[in-house]
Amino acid sequence: MNKIVSILDSMEYGPAPEDDANVRAWLARHKGSFGHFIGGVFTRPGKGASLTAVNPANGEALAEVAEGGEKDVDAAVEAATKAFKSWSALSGTARARHLYALARQVQKHARFLAVLETLDNGKPIRETRDIDVPLVARHFYHHAGWAELRDQEFPGYAPVGVCGQIIPWNFPLLMLAWKVAPALAAGCTVVLKSAEHTPLSALAFAEICREAGLPAGVFNLVNGGGATGAALAAHDGLAKLAFTGSTEIGRVLRRQSAGTGKKLSLELGGKSPFIVFDNADIDAAIEGVVDAIWFNQGEVCCAGSRAIVQEGVAEKFHARLKARMETLRVGPPLDKSTDIGAVVAPVQIEQIRARVEAGVREGAALHQPSWAGETFARATEGGCFFPPSLFTGVSPASPLAQEEIFGPVLVSMTFRTPGEAIALANNSRYGLAASIWSQNLDTAFDAARRVKAGVVWINSTNMFDASVGFGGYKESGFGREGGREGMFEYLVAAWQKNARALPESPPLAAPVPVDDEAGPGSAPAGLDRTVKLYIGGKQARPDSGYSYPVLDGRGRLITEAGHGNRKDIRNAVEAARKAEGWTAMTGHARAQVLYFLAENLELRAGEFAERVARMTGISAKKAAAEVDTSVARLIHNAARADKYDGRVRAPQPRMLALALPEPYEVIGISCPDEAPLLAFVSLVAPAIAMGNRVVVTPSQHHPLAACDLYQVLDTSDVPGGVVNIVTGARDQLASVMAKHDDIAACWYVGSAEGSAMVEAESAGNLKATWVNNGKARDWFDASQGQGEEFLFHATRIKSIWTPFGV
Ligand code: NAI
Ligand code: MG
Repeated sequence: MNKIVSILDSMEYGPAPEDDANVRAWLARHKGSFGHFIGGVFTRPGKGASLTAVNPANGEALAEVAEGGEKDVDAAVEAATKAFKSWSALSGTARARHLYALARQVQKHARFLAVLETLDNGKPIRETRDIDVPLVARHFYHHAGWAELRDQEFPGYAPVGVCGQIIPWNFPLLMLAWKVAPALAAGCTVVLKSAEHTPLSALAFAEICREAGLPAGVFNLVNGGGATGAALAAHDGLAKLAFTGSTEIGRVLRRQSAGTGKKLSLELGGKSPFIVFDNADIDAAIEGVVDAIWFNQGEVCCAGSRAIVQEGVAEKFHARLKARMETLRVGPPLDKSTDIGAVVAPVQIEQIRARVEAGVREGAALHQPSWAGETFARATEGGCFFPPSLFTGVSPASPLAQEEIFGPVLVSMTFRTPGEAIALANNSRYGLAASIWSQNLDTAFDAARRVKAGVVWINSTNMFDASVGFGGYKESGFGREGGREGMFEYLVAAWQKNARALPESPPLAAPVPVDDEAGPGSAPAGLDRTVKLYIGGKQARPDSGYSYPVLDGRGRLITEAGHGNRKDIRNAVEAARKAEGWTAMTGHARAQVLYFLAENLELRAGEFAERVARMTGISAKKAAAEVDTSVARLIHNAARADKYDGRVRAPQPRMLALALPEPYEVIGISCPDEAPLLAFVSLVAPAIAMGNRVVVTPSQHHPLAACDLYQVLDTSDVPGGVVNIVTGARDQLASVMAKHDDIAACWYVGSAEGSAMVEAESAGNLKATWVNNGKARDWFDASQGQGEEFLFHATRIKSIWTPFGV
């Protein structure tokens, strides 16, 4: 410790360490050894595997913590399952009281928790005291409110069930709060696995649960590393898995949980842009950088780690930044005047070092403060310290600019035009956050609109609040934490809990070559020609040159439909990508198109009813009802088109946070066999109402009603490329869509196996998926066939923080 302090001698402040006596006393009370927290009691530590909680500032061992195995995970899931019955049956008010009690206990122990977190993680006490712990309390307060309001705000929804939650080490207690608070508010119970480098604050929280009288089994904690996490994630007693950590493990969990029916949310890595326009307040932006990349040693998933600076101000910006870096204080985390504490563990320091050295080898210019030389290295020996670092002259494609370093290292690039800034910002597989600096309203908001990221901070950075959704685009994951949107991650439409299984769909008959020279007259009586695909507003011949027979309700041939393949899906995606104009339209304009569609479908209701009846063999009356309901569904979604447009929150004085639902842009949709017209309309209408363009495979056995829509779409002013229809074998085509990198979300209604396949194959670009797990939905029932569930899956929330006053 003294060594580190000695480097501070040259600076103006003397040491001002926070007292850690109460934490030391707590560790001593537990004899430096902890078990798991299962069913309201701590298991006895001592036997079996354990891990050591270490203070990364000096390598000191703080405690031994039991490492959970399969048996511990089983016991914890069992306790949570038992507790779920009574916890989910409590009134909202009763659950709210428990959450208030947790919030109050966190506040009561705020100083203790801050010191404990700083000791175990290495982050400065200033941050744990002023940011982490107050936000933890805020989360429990805010979600006490959601517990109270659940039934009014989410009618028809039920808690999803027992939740497995896996958190990282960078904000141990805050990540716990982000996961536990909404789960408990929704009525779920929890098994949490803390991170191996930072197990202690979660153990303290377990004690707080006991102290606050939380019923046994509602919150369970298993300590351990990756193997423990894997055992938890694989447990079939979970209804939901929530994960924050690396994209690599997120992808593993996506594949593993595919087909299990578990709801999944992933909050993964980032390489977030920090865009400085030439009309920015440069001094404010410099302080912004300090918060963006040197907050929490840069071990922040949404760290502004890529500065993108307009050429005209780049020189000035870098000069001031370098001057500011001189004044940053790296040192003992418990010292109240420390800006940058210790990196969490030696393995993390090694990763940072390796990436920095590779950057230097690559030829980028590394700048570190003048004090960061030999003396610093000697003074910080024995602790995991790394100086603030800046790379300039970084090429946008280099690993430095593309890979998450997860340390106090900023890379900087320059741009000329706003268009270039956005192109650079979006040139990343990640899309977690973005920080935008400009004194010009138009410039700032235009960038906020165009940047692909779940959180955008205008003239600010790294702001968080329990009422504001947080989560990613692209490989930064899916799902939101915080806010109303975050509550959905722990809820499920109540009817889904008892949904019956869909009957199996028999495989398609063998394809035959398309004979489109034959013409209508050549077919046997009542037999149509081969039905084509519909791509970019035009009918298209299937690439394979093959079609498959479409039979009527009694198994007689009606016609042949195009046997779509990979190439057809690619063409359809290309057409959908190009139809950007649809997304740029107002909700009002889209609503008009949907009303027009409804009108034109109604005009031809008789013809469509006849088609549906013939294909499926249902009665004329039922078929007429299917067409009627389809018309009604279009009208419903037209009504929604200009009304699901977000919320405004005021999380801090003179700051607003806009919760904007943004379309995914291109969604792949696989329709079920049943209700061939109604299911198609029920899925496509909300997707396009929200501004998406879609690639759809209609009912594989009864595709004709959807194909008859080609003309209706043409006459209703639906622009080409907004709805693209590819007939063929549903699961084959769904697989192509799930793997396609230009599709941002996949909806699949079909078999359990197909659902599993779509989830597993979506892991490539971590697209959002919405699958039915082989369960049936009553498309005729408005509470199942339309509503917020559809709009929620058609959009993702972009949270835009903006100053609102000075
Ligand atoms: P990680 O993703 O391996 O660990 C996160 C959590 O997942 C920990 O609790 C860990 O025990 C658990 N875990 C590990 N393997 C698992 C598995 N197979 N199944 C279930 N759970 C598993 O991240 P790690 O190893 O701590 O850090 C590696 C790198 O990941 C960091 O250097 C950083 O770049 C990145 N990272 C990103 C975070 C973010 O919030 N975006 C958080 C932590 C790390
Ligand atoms: Mg530690």
